[in-house]
Amino acid sequence: MKQNDLIKKIKNFLTKKRLFHTLNVVKISLYLAEKYKVNPKKVFWAAILHDIAKDIKISQQKKILKNLNDNELKEIPLIWHGFTGAIIAKKIFKITDENILNAIKYHSTGNLKMRNIEKIVFVADYIEPGRKYLSSVKIRKKLKMKMELNELVLLVLEEKIKYLIKLKKNIFKNSIDLWNNLSFKTAYK
Ligand SMILES: [Fe+2]
Ligand SMILES: [Fe+2]
Repeated sequence: MKQNDLIKKIKNFLTKKRLFHTLNVVKISLYLAEKYKVNPKKVFWAAILHDIAKDIKISQQKKILKNLNDNELKEIPLIWHGFTGAIIAKKIFKITDENILNAIKYHSTGNLKMRNIEKIVFVADYIEPGRKYLSSVKIRKKLKMKMELNELVLLVLEEKIKYLIKLKKNIFKNSIDLWNNLSFKTAYK
């Protein structure tokens, strides 16, 4: 698909503001893909489609996510758009690569066995230049520093978890699993 056609197709799903955010995420993701030597084509698809379901109403998403049998997921509608997005990416954009689909699915929560493509979109979504909050700016400033991708993931995850605790919101189990796994690896390597 040509880039122009793709943007046109994506515009059917996203508001102007969301498209702007998405293109920023693509930009940062491709930067990270080069820095950490990850397949840029796959990273591009994951980044451009990561929020494809974000502007779909929650009631509509509930219908798309027919098998909402995961009790924890059921309680956190804010993260549904990743799961709905993976379904749309598969059905409408014909994405079959599991790594790309998982990157879309877990872009806001993280996941225990994340591949590098997933890590990149997870980080880029949080630090793209349209994000003006302090925690995001702080991590964005480290972008050019020499550091492992896991350290970047950990920094983003830490801010996300702190924020959820502050608001007394549920933390998805996959985020906690990722935290336990990465913090151990990074601290004792
Ligand atoms: Fe999102
Ligand atoms: Fe996003």
